[in-house]
Amino acid sequence: MSVELIHVSSPGDIAVVERLAQEIWSQHFTPIIGASQVEYMLGKFQSAEAISSQINSGWEYYLAMVDNEAVGYAGLVPDISNKRLMLSKIYVRNTARGTGVGKSILDFVERKCSLEGINTLWLTVNRFNDGPISWYQKCGFVTVDEVKKDIGGGYFMDDYIMEKKINTRCL
Ligand SMILES: CC(C)(COP(=O)(O)OP(=O)(O)OC[C@H]1O[C@@H](n2cnc3c(N)ncnc32)[C@H](O)[C@@H]1OP(=O)(O)O)[C@@H](O)C(=O)NCCC(=O)NCCS
Repeated sequence: MSVELIHVSSPGDIAVVERLAQEIWSQHFTPIIGASQVEYMLGKFQSAEAISSQINSGWEYYLAMVDNEAVGYAGLVPDISNKRLMLSKIYVRNTARGTGVGKSILDFVERKCSLEGINTLWLTVNRFNDGPISWYQKCGFVTVDEVKKDIGGGYFMDDYIMEKKINTRCL
């Protein structure tokens, strides 16, 4: 199966990310953090307006396409001067999981890190998000810390911090 990663920049692509986030987050996170926190976080972090503003401040979003259909997305926060990149978002529609889409996204991100001299890829993951935590471990991430972040509205993100060292080719 071939997965194509496309850089998100147009309002149309941003709207596709927003729709995917609504579908995937509602389905996946409601049992973990509850419907009201999911709705709050979608509005705050994954509305078209929020995504546009993140892109304007240097974030990069990519859509994962299979047969011209968007089946997942990634959101990256590069910190070039510190040679670090945050994998802020990696989400695959449940109908496409287990078919290599997530791995294709991660391979793409790791290649990008390697080419840009970034030696540390890191992320935060809800400490009760068991499946993805074991997926990250299988993919070479290790837990380095934990963080509880107040995101307003009476809600908190209760996360592990995981990271993976990347071999760089052009330091
Ligand atoms: C985590 C996620 C991105 C992984 O993407 P995916 O497309 O399902 O994963 P892939 O099909 O690329 O998995 C590739 C490999 O990981 C293995 N794998 C899949 N799920 C796994 C799991 N929960 N634990 C360990 N290994 C797993 C597969 O068997 C496959 O192994 P192989 O290469 O040896 O055959 C996806 O499942 C997802 O979006 N989950 C829900 C949303 C979420 O919580 N995202 C992370 C937010 S922090």
